[in-house]
Parts: sequence; structure tokens; C-alpha cells
Amino acid sequence: MPAPRKKIPGPPPAPESKEPRGILSTWMRLAFREAETVRGNTLPNPAVGAVLVRNGKVIGRGGTRPAGQAHAEIVALEGARVAPNGGLDRIRGATLYVTLEPCSHFGRTAPCARALIEAGVAKVVAACPDPNPKVSGKGFAMLRRAGITVEIAPPGSPARVRAETFYAGFFFWVANGRPRIIVKIAQSLDGRINARAGEETALTGEEARLFTHGLRAHADAVLVGGATVRIDDPDLTPRLTGGRPAQILVLTRGRKLDLKRQVYSRNRGAKTVVISPEIPQNLPKWVDHVALRRKKPLVRELLAVFAARGYHEVLVEGGRAVWSPFLNAGLCDALHLVTAPMLLPQGEPWGKDLRPAWVKPLEFHRFTPLGSDILAEFRRRSAAS
Ligand SMILES: NC(=O)c1ccc[n+]([C@@H]2O[C@H](COP(=O)([O-])OP(=O)(O)OC[C@H]3O[C@@H](n4cnc5c(N)ncnc54)[C@H](OP(=O)(O)O)[C@@H]3O)[C@@H](O)[C@H]2O)c1
Repeated sequence: MPAPRKKIPGPPPAPESKEPRGILSTWMRLAFREAETVRGNTLPNPAVGAVLVRNGKVIGRGGTRPAGQAHAEIVALEGARVAPNGGLDRIRGATLYVTLEPCSHFGRTAPCARALIEAGVAKVVAACPDPNPKVSGKGFAMLRRAGITVEIAPPGSPARVRAETFYAGFFFWVANGRPRIIVKIAQSLDGRINARAGEETALTGEEARLFTHGLRAHADAVLVGGATVRIDDPDLTPRLTGGRPAQILVLTRGRKLDLKRQVYSRNRGAKTVVISPEIPQNLPKWVDHVALRRKKPLVRELLAVFAARGYHEVLVEGGRAVWSPFLNAGLCDALHLVTAPMLLPQGEPWGKDLRPAWVKPLEFHRFTPLGSDILAEFRRRSAAS
């Protein structure tokens, strides 16, 4: 994981791209599709997609393989090389469309920029520079020095905006040395999270659920407490929006899990990780376990778990015992508060355990109606404000 830094050197100015301004080009769209398919399997590396095009035809495509294995550019080159009627001759003169700047340094793999040069690629079109100081601008410079034409989608263009959304967690992680932490809370009009303590209460409607599933599809991990798992039995996958499920982190002190809960069932596509002081007696072999050492404040220990697993973005879904330590520690980068049109005077207030200063790092961003519910979005205050 990179060490925390205050300021990331900005990428070099992007030359004006000939990519269509109003729409994502078909090739770049395909490259993002490749990136989507590997999202979550590349950590701590970003999920990158690449498409190699020659004479208007795709001759190779691919996404980043798990850490230590080939990056997307290499997968696309390999695909073109081994295809029937493939080979180096076919690659020479081709254009590579890629969702992030190709790397130029030796990490666990050799630099992609060098492989592109050696393969004779004529042009590289990239959606975004890589903010990682080891790469930023250097990959493009290496390609240009070798005579390759480089186009970078300009700020505000569809490809650039898509990349900035897709890589929001990765960019944050590079700049801050920890994952972006998003807290999502559903409340009644009078600020309650349930009808009564220990009771499952459906607060919000279909559109709010859809919104939550979108957050899950974008995150690398979703964190919940043991009580929420027992009471609500949530599924925690993005089944309504589709997309790759995030890893599910269950925080518990329990020595025995209730294996009837959905998060522990087998073959659901989502990896569940139990975080607890001791290994539960009945931990299924398809569920991971991470030991809590109880030495540091809980959030610090959870941050260490996030770092070890390479997450770029974590969604904290609750309940109160889980979101309160993050909010109290100022470790919330976006708060999504969804208010449902109901009053639950006997329910538990979501902010009961918060210290008054919890709100200082956050500022209101906007309201968005979600059916009959309303979403209030708060974001981390920028250093300037
Ligand atoms: N409205 C919403 O957005 C929303 C979201 C989620 C949940 N909820 C509601 O919130 C209620 C549950 O919230 P809650 O605050 O009672 O519980 P919670 O936050 O879901 O979970 C608390 C549990 O987390 C585990 N835990 C907490 N601190 C720990 C630590 N330091 N080390 C290890 N494990 C630790 C323990 O699990 P074990 O008990 O397993 O040891 C503890 O009982 C339910 O009514 C649920 O319906 C509402």
C-alpha cells in the first residue's frame, strides 16, 4: 500500500483527443466492459481493461489478472498473438484502447509500456492518466519517446468522466493510503433505524434499494455487524443492479455463527469474511476469517484489515455499532442518509452513539429524491473550504 501523501503530482496536460466528445467510443466502451469483468479480482491493483484494434477489428482484448499476473495490456497483446492468423505482424500498427495509463515501472510485472513498444503498437488511446506517482505521465512519456501516438481523453470528456467514476476508490487510495469509506444509513423522519430495538424494519422503498445495490456493486467490501446479520439477514449483493458482488465483512464477537443467515450460504458469488477475536467453531471452509487483536481502537484495526486485503472502497452498511466508530473517528468520506416517510418513536436513533464533533469533516452535497424516500449526501470537506 502506498504511504499516505498530502498531494499527488498532477498528470501532464492531456493533448486534445480525437475521441468523439459526446459519446464513449465503441472501443473505449469495450475496454471498460473488460475492466468491469475483472473488478474486485485485481486488488490492490486497479481493474483495467484493454482492447487492441487493427483495421476496424478487435484483434485482442482483456482485463488485468490477479495481482502479480499480467496487466490488461499484456492480456490483450497475448490474445492477439495466439489468435488463429495472429502473431506479431498482426499487432504491428494496431491501436490500443485502455481505461488507465499503461505502467512504465517494474513492479511484480514488467512495464506494459515497454511490451507495447516491443509489439509495434502504433497508437494508444487512454481514458485517464494513472495518479500513482510511480506511473503518472511516465507511461505516456515512454510510449511517446518510442514514437507511439498517445491520446488521452481530455477532462470532462465521456471517457475521462467514466474513468474518474470507475476509479474513484483507486484514486482515493493512492492519494490517502487508505480506502475510501462510504457510510449508508436508512432512517425514519424522526431519525430512527428500526421500529424497536432488535427488530427488522423495512424503511425504504425500491428506488432506495436500487441505489444501495449500486453502492455495493462499486465497493470492494461491504461491512456489517453481527447483530444486523442476525436480525435483518441481509443478502448484501447488488442483485438489483447486477455487477460483481463486493466481499462481505461481518464483524462479530460470536464463537458460533448462525449458518442459516444468507451471508454464510455457499456458492452465492460473494466472498464472506468474518472478522472476530477468535475463529468461530463452525466457520465454513468457504468463509474467510480475520482475527481481531483487540489491541488498537476498532477502526484502526479494521483499517489494517482493509489494507491487508487491498480494498480501494469500503461501504459501511451498519448497524449503529459499526458506523458510529467510523463517524466518530472522522473516517467517513461520503455519508448517504436515506430518509423514509415514516415516524418510529419507539425505534433506536441512528446517531445515539455519536460525539458532537463527528459531523465536522463532512459537508452537505445534495438531496436526491428516491421514489418516496429522499437521499441526503454528505461529502468530506475539501481542504480549501
Ligand atoms: N437503518 C439502517 O440503515 C440499518 C442498517 C443496518 C442495521 N440496522 C438495524 O440496526 C440494528 C442492529 O444494529 P446494532 O447497532 O444493534 O448492531 P450492529 O451494528 O449490526 O452489530 C453490532 C454487533 O457487531 C459486533 N461488534 C461490534 N463491535 C465489535 C467489536 N469491537 N469486536 C467484535 N465485534 C463487534 C457484535 O456482533 P455479535 O453480536 O455477533 O458479537 C455486535 O453485537 C438492527 O435493528 C438492524 O435492523 C439498520
